[in-house]
Amino acid sequence: MRIKQNANLKKYNTFGLNCIAERLFHLENEVDLVEYHQHQNGYAKQKLLFSGGSNLLLCSEIKGTVARIEWDGIKILSETEQDILVEVAAGHSWHEFVLWAIENGYGGIENLSLIPGHVGTAPIQNIGAYGVEVKSSIESLRFYRWETGETEVLNNNVCEFGYRTSVFKTKLRNKGVILSVNFKLTKNEHNLNTKYGSVIDEINKMGKIPSILNISKAIISIRSAKLPDPKNIGNSGSFFKNPIISKNTLIDLREKHKNIPFYVHENASVKLSAGWLIEMSGWKGKSHGDAGMHDKQALVLVNHGNATGEELWDFAKEVKEDVYKNFNINLEPEVNLIGLVNN
Ligand code: EPU
Repeated sequence: MRIKQNANLKKYNTFGLNCIAERLFHLENEVDLVEYHQHQNGYAKQKLLFSGGSNLLLCSEIKGTVARIEWDGIKILSETEQDILVEVAAGHSWHEFVLWAIENGYGGIENLSLIPGHVGTAPIQNIGAYGVEVKSSIESLRFYRWETGETEVLNNNVCEFGYRTSVFKTKLRNKGVILSVNFKLTKNEHNLNTKYGSVIDEINKMGKIPSILNISKAIISIRSAKLPDPKNIGNSGSFFKNPIISKNTLIDLREKHKNIPFYVHENASVKLSAGWLIEMSGWKGKSHGDAGMHDKQALVLVNHGNATGEELWDFAKEVKEDVYKNFNINLEPEVNLIGLVNN
């Protein structure tokens, strides 16, 4: 197992933040994980276990141990005329997996094209985009529990998937590690979803018909136009969750803000667009030093160069406070804040 002392995590987080960790373990396979677990008590306390680093806001210095999940690979488990079941390792790049599925004609995850991050973290926050959430394609996953040192198979129905959440953010938070995820993908009759926003318009503009490939191409084009590429501008996609409120709260809000966009959610609730609330509060494209909100999508916190995690979080807090002042809505970060706060 490769172990690095005083490791800079800059290249491992999409905000591009300099963060020095006392000790970094590179877990290159599942055996490394077990070994790491067995020896962990001998090392400084684990502060962070991560993989793609696409959903992290890191403080400048971590006193203690961090570990990075790096094993990858795709394995076909079984198939019928209609479906294929594949097992994908936790450290596999999410977008590489989507491209593999599309190349092979397998459907179900094309709307989730170009989402940064790795496969093992996709279920944790039930990644979603353009009308599809990953929960719809997950059959089960393998979970290594710290307490027992055993691997369990968790079926979809026990993962308690919801909007940007799952059991791994609640009851199973810090209780173990997702080793691999099994996906059931369609082979012939694909359930194409072009309803969200401008997806169908983009396909028409390309002069194409809806297919898994063309949906993916359209979404890559929409995302590339709106969301900054972490290779050029440090970011972590949407920084806050879209707030979910009751219909009654919406009625009150609409008295003052007639044009407020909303989407019907479950259990008599509605989802608001955090991006709209932030834009209306005047923060779109605004920055303090190198910390800012993106000029094409106000929900994306960006690092224009050398901002620290502390500066980004201070900036985000100002945005959050302003939105609260204007709309009485409390924005919650979607991104994990490491060593920064008890927010
Ligand atoms: N809006 C604005 N101004 C902005 C941004 C958005 O007014 O600057 C309003 C507009 O009314 C727009 C609506 O918000 O029509 C929705 O915007 P968009 O389609 O860009 O989606 P979003 O709700 O801001 C969510 C996800 C994204 C996902 C897109 C597309 C969350 C927190 N974010 O963003 O996911 O790509 O929908 O499905 O649910 C991510 O989680 O990192 C992420 C990028």
